[in-house]
Amino acid sequence: MIICKTVSDYTGWRFQKGGRIGVVPTMGYLHEGHLSLVRQIRPACDHVVATIFVNPTQFNQAEDFERYPRNEERDCELLEAEGVSAVFIPGVDEVYPEGAASWVTVEGVTENMEGKYRPGHFQGVTTVVTKLFHIIQPQVAIFGEKDFQQLRVIEEMTRSLFFPISILRGHLVREDDGIAMSSRNVRLSPAERESARAIPRALQAAHALWLKGESSARVLRAEIRERLGDEGIRTEYVSVIDEETVQPVKQVGWGARVCLAAWVGGVRLIDTMRFRQGEEWDGSVSHNRVLF
Ligand code: PAJ
Repeated sequence: MIICKTVSDYTGWRFQKGGRIGVVPTMGYLHEGHLSLVRQIRPACDHVVATIFVNPTQFNQAEDFERYPRNEERDCELLEAEGVSAVFIPGVDEVYPEGAASWVTVEGVTENMEGKYRPGHFQGVTTVVTKLFHIIQPQVAIFGEKDFQQLRVIEEMTRSLFFPISILRGHLVREDDGIAMSSRNVRLSPAERESARAIPRALQAAHALWLKGESSARVLRAEIRERLGDEGIRTEYVSVIDEETVQPVKQVGWGARVCLAAWVGGVRLIDTMRFRQGEEWDGSVSHNRVLF
């Protein structure tokens, strides 16, 4: 596995290699969720390339950016063990050279949820992903459903700006206790970690209500808010959306999804679940990889 710190290092390697490139963009501090993306994209390409870049322009608070966990050495070991061919780990100046003033903006699917509560966040994401696509030159890329709105934003950007790249969707990977894997989970204290378990449980409860016939988004959202409130978790939003438009729906049918952002202590967590028979997490450890 080759480690590239600059665009020209990578381009040199890329020109020697033929075949299809599949890219897995990440901000590092890798966990099973990231590694599952590597495994899912592998059959679709000849060489998997991972990128590790904590992108300053998508953070709303400088402190969140500075405190974002980093461990490049361990990340590279994990990627090498997964058979990744190249890792691109640029510095901030490489991606945002002095005087760089170009931005990519996607409207519509960015308006709701994360777009509303994190102004500028998606412009940072779409700009950095565009830069990474142009540098890496992949034929295929994969993004996780954990960040469902981000996935939809990238899909829309790729389609409407005619990037010649197929976007794959990676399933959400959970910890054994149901918490969605996230690099930010390490910032939870043991007590916070314990109360965060209420998040997947609340989603599971709403899903169970839906299976019993409750189709009002208002009722399902209220159920989730109440359960999280009981645990002292402050919800920023709980939205039931149409997966295509990312707009809120009133009635929950097939193709609807609930997304939430919640503060557990000082850590902001997001989670999501699709309303679909067989999607629910039943609380057992053996199932948690493929559900939600
Ligand atoms: P990061 O949070 O590191 O996530 C990188 C990729 O891993 C994203 O596609 C994300 O959806 C996916 N991922 C994270 N946790 C996951 C989980 N538990 N299960 C499945 N997939 C999971 O998302 C970003 O970085 C950045 O915004 C990025 C796209 C790299 C642009 O900077």
